[in-house]
Amino acid sequence: MTLKNKKILLIIGGGISAYKSLDLIRLLKKNEINIKTIITKSGREFVTPLSVTTLTKGRTYEDIFDTKTEAEIDHISLSRWADLIVVLPATANFMTKLSIGKAEDLATTVLLASNKDIALVPAMNVRMWLHKATQKNFKILQDYGYDFIGPEKGEMACGEYGEGKMSSPRQIYSYIKNYFDKKNLMKNKNFKALVTAGPTREYLDPIRYISNESSGKQGYEIAKALDKLGIKTKLISGPSNNVANKNIKVKSVISAKDMMDEVKKSLPVDIAVCTAAVADYRPLIKSKNKLKKSSSNIINLKLEKNSDILEFLSKNNKFRPKIVVGFAAETENIIHNSKIKIKEKYCDLIIANDVSKKNRGFNSDYNKVSIIDKNGKIHSIPKNKKSFIANTIAKKILDKLLVDDKNIN
Ligand code: PMT
Repeated sequence: MTLKNKKILLIIGGGISAYKSLDLIRLLKKNEINIKTIITKSGREFVTPLSVTTLTKGRTYEDIFDTKTEAEIDHISLSRWADLIVVLPATANFMTKLSIGKAEDLATTVLLASNKDIALVPAMNVRMWLHKATQKNFKILQDYGYDFIGPEKGEMACGEYGEGKMSSPRQIYSYIKNYFDKKNLMKNKNFKALVTAGPTREYLDPIRYISNESSGKQGYEIAKALDKLGIKTKLISGPSNNVANKNIKVKSVISAKDMMDEVKKSLPVDIAVCTAAVADYRPLIKSKNKLKKSSSNIINLKLEKNSDILEFLSKNNKFRPKIVVGFAAETENIIHNSKIKIKEKYCDLIIANDVSKKNRGFNSDYNKVSIIDKNGKIHSIPKNKKSFIANTIAKKILDKLLVDDKNIN
């Protein structure tokens, strides 16, 4: 796909790698991409606005309180103009400002006011990159929805070696190309997804039930992340206090049977993600009236198996979604047991999570997962907010879908 006339706002920060922005501009211009540039005060110590303007053939914006800038295009319009914003180099200092929402100059104000996708290209010394403060900001910014290009491992300007080196103009260009290719494919596809979330309740009588501690948070975040990627998403949720975006169609259900019925009604879809903690068993008999206390110290409760929704989707001959994703809630031998589950349930990906810890998994804002594919390939995501985990899973699903789609067509 051609990138002709795509609009990129390039923000040049203050670091030695700023000089690479000139090569990137040349690459973008060669592909007839429209570019506007902002250069920060410290960026001007490394690259002159004149060099940038010579290559872009347009004005390089510098200051927020500049009457000429505001008369030509105000900072809000500048933040709305672009299809994609790229910041390079994103220094440790710049990342700190963004992580606390500081709007102190044109660059940070435009970014805070932006409603567009933003990619940061970090560049700094390895110790600075690995410092807890930078890593904390990195996580915060990922959680805010910023995307990152790099950093790479390699020899640095200071002579040290390690992670923190800025991606090359070619790598940044590939990211940009891939970004627009994906957007373009999505526009034509109208992908549909269903997500199951939350617990189910299996009633013994009108007021007592068997359930679990699932809050629905992880499932709601998955639905939000898919919606953000432009996928029409339906969320089938057991009892939960979470609220979904208005774009997402939510269907509330109570029992595993209700959830299965609703899933059946929602087919066909392209993607199915089963995040719900569905009760494996339900009471064989549901009493119409409240059960009375018995004189016996022990009572027997007969349970019968619920149908497995994930397995139903994976084995569905008529309406099998192109991608079926399951979650594996495990308390021991996490990876081994999850690999067994992916085989037993015939899904394409399984998200393994350790639910033995109180500070993540069930009913927490955090999770730590491993995404496992059918060939046993593992992509582990360290502990992070469920929103971040969800965004990573959603992007992975979309990438897989687009690759499979390309191979079929
Ligand atoms: O809701 P939160 O508080 O945010 O917590 C998130 C979570 C811990 C519930 C979530 O991350 C998670 O692990 N969900 C899966 C819970 C579960 O039931 O796992 P399982 O290993 O028992 O089941 C494996 C898979 O089969 C799951 O995708 C489950 O949705 C599915 N299943 C199970 C039984 C059944 N009858 N039908 C199903 O579809």
